[in-house]
Amino acid sequence: MKTPVPDYLKHVLTSCRDNEKGALADYIPELAAVDPDKFALALSTVDGTIYSTGDDEVEFTMQSMSKPFAYALALQKVGLTKVMEKVGVEPSGEAFNQISLEKDSNIPKNPMINSGAITTHSLIPYKRTVSRAEQLRRFLSGLAGRELSFDTDVYTSELKTAFRNRSLGYMLRTVGVLEEDPEAIVNGYIKQCSIKVTVKDLAMIAGVLANGGIQPQTGKKLLDRSVVRQVLSVMLTCGMYDAAGDWLTTVGIPAKSGVAGGIIGVLPGQVGIAVFSPRIDEHGHSVRGVDIFERMSREMGLHLMEGTPSAQTILQSRYLTGKRDHVVVYELRGVLQFTESEMLLRILQDEPEGKKRIVLDLTNLTLIHNVGARMLFEGVARLKKDGHPVVVVDSEGILSEAQMKGNKRVVVKEKLTKYLEKFQ
Ligand code: DON
Repeated sequence: MKTPVPDYLKHVLTSCRDNEKGALADYIPELAAVDPDKFALALSTVDGTIYSTGDDEVEFTMQSMSKPFAYALALQKVGLTKVMEKVGVEPSGEAFNQISLEKDSNIPKNPMINSGAITTHSLIPYKRTVSRAEQLRRFLSGLAGRELSFDTDVYTSELKTAFRNRSLGYMLRTVGVLEEDPEAIVNGYIKQCSIKVTVKDLAMIAGVLANGGIQPQTGKKLLDRSVVRQVLSVMLTCGMYDAAGDWLTTVGIPAKSGVAGGIIGVLPGQVGIAVFSPRIDEHGHSVRGVDIFERMSREMGLHLMEGTPSAQTILQSRYLTGKRDHVVVYELRGVLQFTESEMLLRILQDEPEGKKRIVLDLTNLTLIHNVGARMLFEGVARLKKDGHPVVVVDSEGILSEAQMKGNKRVVVKEKLTKYLEKFQ
């Protein structure tokens, strides 16, 4: 049988195609010349599968969808404290190109509006031979898993009419937020906006964020988990500008739009979604793109606030083995965060005091949060106090060195079957 997911995506695209509301972004002359009917949708999973439909090979410029990734790169390279000195995290409730600063601090309110994005661009470390925009292009290419390029025509076209962004640059230089020539920084920001992608690239890029910073196809760690958390938080509260509240309540997926007609959305731990349709609304969001996200969120239950009953799945099985059944095996599965750890400890609480060997098998866990590791080892310590020899089987190496600190002796790296052979 064939999975029905591609058919579903095709169906969504077809049912939203009739909506011809909105208009092309004509303040960038080159964008006013694109085919308004191009339409594409892609979805990525956290294990690296990409589904796509429609004009999924058509490239378009990222525009403001580049902003969260410039923010990610700045955070990854210079750290949160330095970035926070220059750009806030408060939703502005204003248009994306509003000429405004935070009241007392005189810094831009957030990195998703243009003033914050121009400032964020200035924070990306660069070399004399490799510009900031080029640094970002390389970084995004790593996320997308292929070499991306700039759209020089769109870049030069926007340069000609970038009066508003220049005025933002000069304002930021006046108050000392920018410390270099504002012309050069604004030009670099406009160049970053001209990086070209397809919906498949965007879905892949979103997939890395959904997967906690690890590129699902290569397994390479490209972003720290803390950076991903910060970026997604800001996308959720500020990514859709003065429509952020409407978006959060109806769609509930951290997202970012671009005036070329793209929207990228990330549901942590689940999916990345990308759409492309060039006609935009008064906020700068693709009209059909908003339709698609609203529909998919509703139909696929993707709203962030719906939550998932993950704690029901932590224990895969419990069984007795070994001579005279003196070994008790707990096979765990899923993700070990606070909720699941609390449930696991409550289950272990029922284990009567005694000499039975307890084996906690982590092989089928997909992630252990630090709190999960702390609670797991606290449970181990208490079981030992009750008289049980305890062993944690971590054959896939899911526990980090830091998480194992002080507990290495109870962790074995063998496969569960191999370990249990000793007790038969
Ligand atoms: O700075 C600008 O005006 C454009 N290069 C990007 C604006 C944009 O995409 C707004 N978001 N939807």
